[in-house]
Amino acid sequence: MTEVKRPVVAVFGAGKIGEALLSGLLHGGRSTDELVFTERSAARAAQLTADHGIPSADVADAAERADVLVVAVKPQDIEPLLDELAPVVGPGKLVVSLCAGLPTALFERRLPEGVPVVRVMPNTPMLVNEAMSAISAGAHAGPEHLATVEELMGVVGKVVRVPEAQQDAVTALSGSGPAYFFYLVEAMIDAGILLGIPRAVAQDLIVQSAVGAATMLAQGGDHPVTLREAVTSPAGTTIMAIRELERHGVRAALIDAIEAARDRSRELGAAHDQG
Ligand SMILES: NC(=O)c1ccc[n+]([C@@H]2O[C@H](COP(=O)([O-])OP(=O)(O)OC[C@H]3O[C@@H](n4cnc5c(N)ncnc54)[C@H](OP(=O)(O)O)[C@@H]3O)[C@@H](O)[C@H]2O)c1
Repeated sequence: MTEVKRPVVAVFGAGKIGEALLSGLLHGGRSTDELVFTERSAARAAQLTADHGIPSADVADAAERADVLVVAVKPQDIEPLLDELAPVVGPGKLVVSLCAGLPTALFERRLPEGVPVVRVMPNTPMLVNEAMSAISAGAHAGPEHLATVEELMGVVGKVVRVPEAQQDAVTALSGSGPAYFFYLVEAMIDAGILLGIPRAVAQDLIVQSAVGAATMLAQGGDHPVTLREAVTSPAGTTIMAIRELERHGVRAALIDAIEAARDRSRELGAAHDQG
C-alpha cells in the first residue's frame, strides 16, 4: 500500500488557539515532525517544545518546511506577521487564517499573487477537541484546499463550509456561542443558590444537565422543540418555568443579542477591509 504523505502544518502564533490546535493534531495522530510553530517569545516557544515535543522555527523556516500555514495571531498583530510572510510564502502553500474578523482579501492583497487562503472561525471548545469551525474559501482556494482544512480542523471538532459573507453571523453564533452557554449555566447556578442548594452541588446539577442535553441534541438527531416538549407535561413544573422565560422575553433577547454580536463583528471586520 502506498503511504499518503500528510501535509506539514506550521502554526504562526501558538497562543491559546494555536497551542490547542497543535495539541489536538498531536493527539489526533500527527507526529511532531509533521508540525512546527513560531512564537514571538523565546521562553514560550521553549516551554511549548518541552510540553509537546513540537519544534519551533522562525517565520521563514516554518513557511519553507510547511505545506499548510496556519495563522493564529491576534488580529491586531497580523500586519507585522504578513510583512514577514509575504517574501517567504512560496507556490504550492495553503494559508489558513484562524483570525476572527480578518477577510481573506486582506491576506490575498499582502501575499504573492494566487496564494490560496481559507478563513476559519473556530471556537474555544477546541481546547477539549469539541470545536465548531466554519470555513470559507478565498478567491484562489478551491475544493481541494477546503478539503485539506476540513481534514485538519476535523481533528479538533466539527467543521462546516459557509460563504465568507456569513462569517460575521457565524462569529455571533458559534464563535461567541460558548459564552452564551456559560452565561446561562452561571444564571442557573445562581437560581440553585437562591433555592438553598450549595454552590458546588448546584454546579454539578447544572453542568451535568448541560452535558446531557448537549449529548441528546448532538447524538439523537431530534429537533430541540421535540426534546423540550418531551419534558413539558401538562400543568407540570417545566411549563411553569417556560411561561416565565417567555414572559421575560428570553427568546427575543437571545435573537437580539446574537444580532448585536453579528453587527459588532461586521464593524470590526470593516476596519480591516479598508486598505
Ligand atoms: N480564543 C478564542 O476564543 C478564539 C476563537 C476564535 C478565533 N480566535 C482567533 O485565534 C487567534 C488567536 O487567538 P488566541 O486567543 O489564541 O490569542 P493569543 O493567546 O494571544 O495567541 C496569539 C499568540 O501569537 C503570538 N504572536 C503574535 N505575533 C506573532 C508573530 N509575529 N509571530 C509569532 N507569534 C506571534 C502571541 O505572542 P505574544 O503573547 O507575545 O503577543 C501569542 O502567543 C486570534 O486571531 C483570534 O481572533 C480565537
